[in-house]
Amino acid sequence: VAGNRGPATSAFRYEAALRKEAALVRGRPGDGIDLDAAAKDLLALQRGLTGDRKLIGERYMDERVRLSSYLLFYWPVSYAQARAMLRMAGIAPRSGAVRVLDLGSGPSPCGLAAADHLAGIAPGAPLGAVARASLVACDPSALALESAGRLAAAAGCDFAAVPGWDAAASAVLPDGPFDLIVLGHVVNELWSGEPDRIARRARLLDRCFELLAPDGALLLLEPALLSTGRDALALRDALVSAGRRVLAPCVRSGPCPALQAEGQTCHSDFAWEVPRAVRELSARTGLDKGLVKTTGFAFAAGRPAEDARFREAAQDRFRVVSDPMVNKAGRVRYLVCGERGRFPLSAKRGEGFPAERTFFSLKRSDLVRIASPAVRETGEALGPGTEIEKL
Ligand SMILES: C[S@@+](CC[C@H](N)C(=O)[O-])C[C@H]1O[C@@H](n2cnc3c(N)ncnc32)[C@H](O)[C@@H]1O
Repeated sequence: VAGNRGPATSAFRYEAALRKEAALVRGRPGDGIDLDAAAKDLLALQRGLTGDRKLIGERYMDERVRLSSYLLFYWPVSYAQARAMLRMAGIAPRSGAVRVLDLGSGPSPCGLAAADHLAGIAPGAPLGAVARASLVACDPSALALESAGRLAAAAGCDFAAVPGWDAAASAVLPDGPFDLIVLGHVVNELWSGEPDRIARRARLLDRCFELLAPDGALLLLEPALLSTGRDALALRDALVSAGRRVLAPCVRSGPCPALQAEGQTCHSDFAWEVPRAVRELSARTGLDKGLVKTTGFAFAAGRPAEDARFREAAQDRFRVVSDPMVNKAGRVRYLVCGERGRFPLSAKRGEGFPAERTFFSLKRSDLVRIASPAVRETGEALGPGTEIEKL
């Protein structure tokens, strides 16, 4: 999909600034980065965030060593996820000044991604281009917000910080309106383990929707783990049932079919040009970031009236929501999801159907129009008259 696999860039605009910031945070300004030490710290951080998750609920962003490895590794990953999701949602750059709110911002990769995106600045553009953007970042961690402030200044973006901000304590939200509100990998940390966590998270997001400009959008990114992914799908369903509209990745306006199937979740992934520090740390830690993955959603600001014509028009549009899967007979299946549900679309190489070439080039997160599929017992398939168009 042209929309979610954008052109490769020559260099990541924040690469040098992040290295400098990571060294500064570690208390070794100008000394450069000891990548072996950073790799060790990164593995401990990764375990705490996505492995045993013992760091959830802890003030890990206030620890210099952890923040430093976050800046080198997770910062570019979050930035890339946010940009890819905004592109996938079809959110176009704006011509005037833009306002972004980043909640649970940490050092604000998502906020700066949103500001760059709305200002039309490519991820490979040199830092310091005039951003026309202002960013408000809220987080409990003053240390992470200091880093965010220095990175924003390097990018030429106006910046205001709200340190000590605790979403779970119903903290006051800054005054709107905002063109984009981003919540990157924070919502899963709120009310974690509480039975009513989805309802409480939905109430927080409802408060955020009130702060959006009429043509604004809200971006929610969560880790693509089974537990955090399913919670994100449940949150999506709660918001959709209250009339919110998903801009991406869902084509479907009804409840999420993955959530109804036990043990299943859904995520988007995106190819990117892996920044140097991420590459170097991946090589040392084995953490694979060849693709960036997230269970994320972009929501529109408004609550459009239920429009049956929209659902009608979207009947033949689907998101590819799996990698290719091959069975023993050599048949390749993808799961696709749309208004008609989430089901396998399959084909076998060499059947000679006209859509074969497009079918075998599909990737997760592609948006496709499928016309005249053949119907099989286990789903749908390519037939002689099937057309697949990548949108
Ligand atoms: C995994 S980091 C994500 C940082 C950044 N948004 C990103 O996408 O890379 C989670 C962030 O949530 C913040 N956080 C955790 N609990 C919070 C709470 N109760 N209220 C606000 N922020 C919180 C942490 O301080 C941390 O910066």
